[in-house]
Amino acid sequence: MGRQPVCLRPNVVVEPLFNQWYAWTNLIAPAASAMYVANLHLKIMQSFIASPQIHVSALKNPAMLGGPFINYGLERVPDIKKLLEKTTSEQAHMLKFAEAVKTLDHTLLEESEGLSLERIYKKVPDVLKGFVELGYDLNHNPSARFIEGLLYRSPCYNTSSQSIGLSTVTRDDRSFVFSTPRLSREGYLNLQVPFSSGGIDTLFEMRHTPRAIEEVAEALQVGQNDYDLFSSFFTESPTRPAAREGSTYTGPDVRVRYYGHACLLIETEDTSILCDPVISYDTDFDIPHYALADLPEKIDYVVITHNHQDHCMFETLLQIRHKVNHVIVPKNNGGSLADPSMKLVLQSVGFKNVIEIDETESVEVPGGSITGLPFFGEHADLHIRTKLAYAINLKGNVAICAADSENLEPKLYERCTT
Ligand SMILES: [Fe+2]
Repeated sequence: MGRQPVCLRPNVVVEPLFNQWYAWTNLIAPAASAMYVANLHLKIMQSFIASPQIHVSALKNPAMLGGPFINYGLERVPDIKKLLEKTTSEQAHMLKFAEAVKTLDHTLLEESEGLSLERIYKKVPDVLKGFVELGYDLNHNPSARFIEGLLYRSPCYNTSSQSIGLSTVTRDDRSFVFSTPRLSREGYLNLQVPFSSGGIDTLFEMRHTPRAIEEVAEALQVGQNDYDLFSSFFTESPTRPAAREGSTYTGPDVRVRYYGHACLLIETEDTSILCDPVISYDTDFDIPHYALADLPEKIDYVVITHNHQDHCMFETLLQIRHKVNHVIVPKNNGGSLADPSMKLVLQSVGFKNVIEIDETESVEVPGGSITGLPFFGEHADLHIRTKLAYAINLKGNVAICAADSENLEPKLYERCTT
């Protein structure tokens, strides 16, 4: 099969991984990811090693699904122990960073009295020096603001922690992914490759464009031992069309297709706009649904409403990156630990033309515009700014993509329409 042009099978699943954990925005943003390693991943692994039976029992109760429990049996305790040791050793700088954040927070709370914070700079832990600016809000609450762009050039952003897991599915459902690190298992190929790798684009172009396996294997640095499993993800004779009929809209109006969850594809013959991409695999699922093969050849704009895992989903984003021209994202708070910049995250994983817009700002698109609207609610009432609803105006028709926003103040909508 080496030199023959082949296609990636439609039911090949990719899981983006960070230290073997299913990756999402906060595991890519440097400061946030350090806090997750220290305060979530290590603690879940320690708990599983100490009392695996509690995890096994908890996951028998449907009410506990989605909780901090590892979904493996007792036989995998030694593997989790190894992963814990590896993480503790390889991510020592992240653990130090997370500890320093806590120390600085404590110092600010203890020592700020509403007077100048200049003297506190001397007490900033070394690992944070030059990465934070100190300041108050208008009620004299002190906090540190991170210079996020610099953190992407620090040891807290290390792409060697990133990898992808490839496997095949027959049904498009999975158990909860965020609390169980991926360990080796039969049929699961873990490739150590940064998310920004062009090899990932080559791989997913091969869903619709045949190429030689050797070419993509080289781009993804697939080792000899993994070559047979890697080859099994490709086929010379696809059983399904790589791009289904009608996948590119050429009519005179506006076409809207619902892909599930908050994902809408809005198209005219001149432009295509995809909101909150969460796209299914092409499997024999009982419910008819649009899948990757229904997407057009090019997506002019991806718009993302907020930083939650089911709206900014890297599993889909990495698979469509090769066909996306622009990404529109909400402007953020500028360095708040709880509110990492989506623009920086997406740029770091290889997206080009990432445009950040604010409430009431618009981007002109062929035949209309995309306007940012306020998005109230969610995020436990923290002042998260990386959230935006969108009014998508095409040929005089307006679609509002407001995702998980809540109607906390009806007056807002009056003001938006007057
Ligand atoms: Fe949400």
